[in-house]
Amino acid sequence: MMKTNQSWGGRFAEGPREAVARYTDSQTYDRALYAQDIRASQAHARMLGRQGVITPEEARILVEGLDTVRAEIEAGSFAWKPELEDVHMNIEARLTELTGDVGKKLHTGRSRNDQVGLSFRLFVADRLEVWRQRAAGLCAVLLKRAVEHQDDILPGCTHLQPAQPVSLAHHLLAYAWMFRRDALRLGDTLKRVRVSPLGAAALAGTTYPLDPQGVALEVGFPEIYGNSMDAVSDRDFVLEALFDGAAIMMHLSRLCEEIILWANPAFGFVKLPDGYATGSSIMPQKKNPDVAELMRGKTGRVYGALTGLLTTMKGLPLAYNRDMQEDKEGFLDADRTVESSLRLMAGMLVELTFRTERMREACKAGFLNATELADYLVGKGLPFREAHHVTGQAVAAAEREGKGLEDLALPELQALEPRIDSDVYAVLDYAAAVRRRETPGGTGPRSVTRQMEQLGQWLAGWDKA
Ligand code: ARG
Repeated sequence: MMKTNQSWGGRFAEGPREAVARYTDSQTYDRALYAQDIRASQAHARMLGRQGVITPEEARILVEGLDTVRAEIEAGSFAWKPELEDVHMNIEARLTELTGDVGKKLHTGRSRNDQVGLSFRLFVADRLEVWRQRAAGLCAVLLKRAVEHQDDILPGCTHLQPAQPVSLAHHLLAYAWMFRRDALRLGDTLKRVRVSPLGAAALAGTTYPLDPQGVALEVGFPEIYGNSMDAVSDRDFVLEALFDGAAIMMHLSRLCEEIILWANPAFGFVKLPDGYATGSSIMPQKKNPDVAELMRGKTGRVYGALTGLLTTMKGLPLAYNRDMQEDKEGFLDADRTVESSLRLMAGMLVELTFRTERMREACKAGFLNATELADYLVGKGLPFREAHHVTGQAVAAAEREGKGLEDLALPELQALEPRIDSDVYAVLDYAAAVRRRETPGGTGPRSVTRQMEQLGQWLAGWDKA
C-alpha cells in the first residue's frame, strides 16, 4: 500500500496498490515534458497575478519557485517520486515544498487535463520545429550532391526495370522535393499544434476570471481553444505530428531501399562511407548497409505509434479519459526515431560516393536508347510501326553480340535500314537522351537547373516563412 496522493487523496482512506501505482505511473517518461510544463505554469501564475486571482507577490514567488525546480531537474538533484504519478504533480509538489502555501495556489482555475494539453502541445511544437530543421537540412544536402552530379547519368527505372536514362542530379532532387514537402507539412501542422487549451480546466471552463489568450501569447501560441470539452480531449495535434513523422520515415525508407540496392555489387552504384557500414564476422568481403536497413526497419515503429494512438482515441467519449496518457510514449519514441533518422541520412549522404562510371555503364545494359533510335527512324521518314520493328532487330543484333546499340557498326545498322546515317550515333548517346528532355520538371539540364534554383530559393527563406 502506498501513501495517499497529496493532490487528490482527500477522499481516499488508503493509497493505490503498488502494482496499480506502477501501472498508472507516467513520470518515468513524461518527465521529458518538464521544461514545457514549467513554462506553461509560469505563464499561468503570471496570468493569475494579472487577473487579481492571486497577488502579484504570490505570482512572483511561484515563477521564481518554478525556476528553482527547473534548475534542480537540470542539475539532476530533483527527486522524482513515483507515487506522484506524473511530471505535473512532481513539479507542483516540489514547488509547494519550496514555497509553502503559495505553491498550493498554482493550480487555481486549472486542471491537469488542460495543463497536460498545453504542456504536451508545447513539447510537440518544440520537437516539430527540430524535425522541420532536419528535413530542410536533408533537402540542402540532397541539393548539394545534385549540384555535383548534374552531368552524370544512370538508368531511371519503372517497375525497377531500366527505362530511360536520367541525370543523377534529377534522381537526387526527386528526394529533395519530398523532404521539402515534409518540412512544409510540418509547418502546416504546427498551426494546429500551437493552440492553447489552458482555461478549459477539467472540461467545462472555470468560475475564475482567467485570461486564456494572455497565457497563450505568453507561451508563444497565437490561438486558444474554441470549446473547453474539445480542448481537453483533442489529440489530433499528436496524430498529425505522427502522420508527418510517418511520411518522413516512408520517404527515408524509400531512399534507404535505393541505397541498399545501389550498394549491392550487382549494381555497384554507390560506395558506402566506412563510418556508415558494418562488416560481417564470418564473410570478410562484406560491407553491410546497416544504417539504411535499420532506418527502413524503424519506419515500422513510427507507423505503429500513429496506428496505436488512432486506435486509442477511436472509442473515447468526451471529455478527458486516462487512455489519453498513452499519447506520450509513442510520440517520444517516434521523435527519437524521426529526428535521428533525418540527421543520419544527411550525414550518410554527405559522405556517400557515387560510382558514376558504373551508372553510365549500366545505361548500356538495358538498351535505354532504343526509344531514341525509333524516334530517329521516324525522323528519317519511316512509319512508327516500321521504326519500332527495325529498332527491335537492332536490339536483337546488339544483344547477340553483347553490345549496346551505339556499338553496332554503321554498315550493320544500314543493313537493317539503309536510311540510317552516321548522324545516328549522336542520337544514341545516352547523355543526349537526357539533354533532350526539357519539359517542365524533366531530367534535361535546363529543367534540372530550374529545380535547383527553386529549391535553393526555398532553402534560403524556409525558416522565415
Ligand atoms: N498524466 C496524465 C496524462 O498524461 C495527466 C492528466 C491526468 N488527469 C487526470 N484527471 N487524471 O494524461
